[in-house]
Amino acid sequence: MTTTIDHITKQLDRLYNAQAPETGIIKNFIKAETEANTQLRSYANNVKQNHLDNYVYFRGLTEFSNKCSKNCYYCGIRAGNKNVDRYDVTDEDILDAVRFAHEQNYGSVVLQAGERSDKHFVERVDKLLRKIKQITNDEIGITISLGEQNYETFKRWFESGAHRYLLRIESSNKILYYKIHPKNEKHSYEHRIQALYDLKDIGYQTGTGVMIGLPFQTRKDLVEDLLFMRRFDIDMVGMGPYIEHQDTPLYKYRNQLLPQQDRFEMTLNMISLLRIIMPDINIASATALQALDPMGREKALKAGANVIMPNVTPGMYRNSYKLYENKPCTDEEAADCVSCLEMRIGLTGNQVGYGKWGDSRHYHNRRGR
Ligand code: 5AD
Ligand code: SF4
Ligand code: FES
Repeated sequence: MTTTIDHITKQLDRLYNAQAPETGIIKNFIKAETEANTQLRSYANNVKQNHLDNYVYFRGLTEFSNKCSKNCYYCGIRAGNKNVDRYDVTDEDILDAVRFAHEQNYGSVVLQAGERSDKHFVERVDKLLRKIKQITNDEIGITISLGEQNYETFKRWFESGAHRYLLRIESSNKILYYKIHPKNEKHSYEHRIQALYDLKDIGYQTGTGVMIGLPFQTRKDLVEDLLFMRRFDIDMVGMGPYIEHQDTPLYKYRNQLLPQQDRFEMTLNMISLLRIIMPDINIASATALQALDPMGREKALKAGANVIMPNVTPGMYRNSYKLYENKPCTDEEAADCVSCLEMRIGLTGNQVGYGKWGDSRHYHNRRGR
């Protein structure tokens, strides 16, 4: 883009004020040049400060099992990867991690694991949710990220205390979706969309997201992803760069990928653009950003993101939850990340929303409409 600063601001104003954001403008900004990147990110940061506040909310993340029944082509813990030590964090260790997050006044936790829908798993999660509510006197907010489930399971977990659900669409383009997933019942695009509708219907704060820089993905796909999230009126988003993993089928396309630095910059731009077209949603600064840049998460927090998910999984398991390469903090214990993160957030001009759930304001706004 060869444009003046004035022109850039006008384009951003147009996006911010538009009833129907123009795809041409979005597309130009997704892969912008340095000057436009700087403007875009500071504009998004202002939108965030004006519509929300200067808090960053913590979600203590427990990756409590890397057993997964699916075979997504991009993911390092897919069922077909035999080079993974499969683990289940014990219930007691999960509850300890939650206690730790609660004592640190994190406000919320996220429970994440590989996708399973067997009866044993559904019941285990149900019990854990109730127990978490009990040991924290109902004080801690709970987000879950446990893949596609049927309506009954989603409802059951909601009734047991989960109130936010993250389920990334990964790519809203159906053709691309089937290039990165096996084409079968277990990986159906339609089911994924239906699951998102179910979550909303049940009353969850509903989150989705995509990967950025996938093989075969175009900038037009990314524009459509942003418009999909807006059309779907999503409450929360977690999106991050795609990072190749050597034990996955997509690894053979690694030479066709954009350089990691470009994927990183594009992710920041996607976050900023989404903040501008959906000012009151929660946007997470994805951990994958830090795999590409040591200050990646901080940069996202200055570009419109307002949520961060410090890992509270006990240290001994961390090395085995590798969805992608160079995952940060795999050698750290949860306590190491606390002071590190607080310092990092201070540097972004934000403060930590200790003890607050940090619900999606969009959720409350849309339900009050
Ligand atoms: N690179 C980046 N993100 C990945 N995920 C899975 N594999 C990768 C990868 N190789 C993301 C997916 C999934 C989330 C839990 O992790 O978007 O939804
Ligand atoms: Fe399993 Fe999720 Fe990885 Fe897919 S992305 S293989 S569902 S853990
Ligand atoms: Fe984990 Fe800094 S955030 S050590």
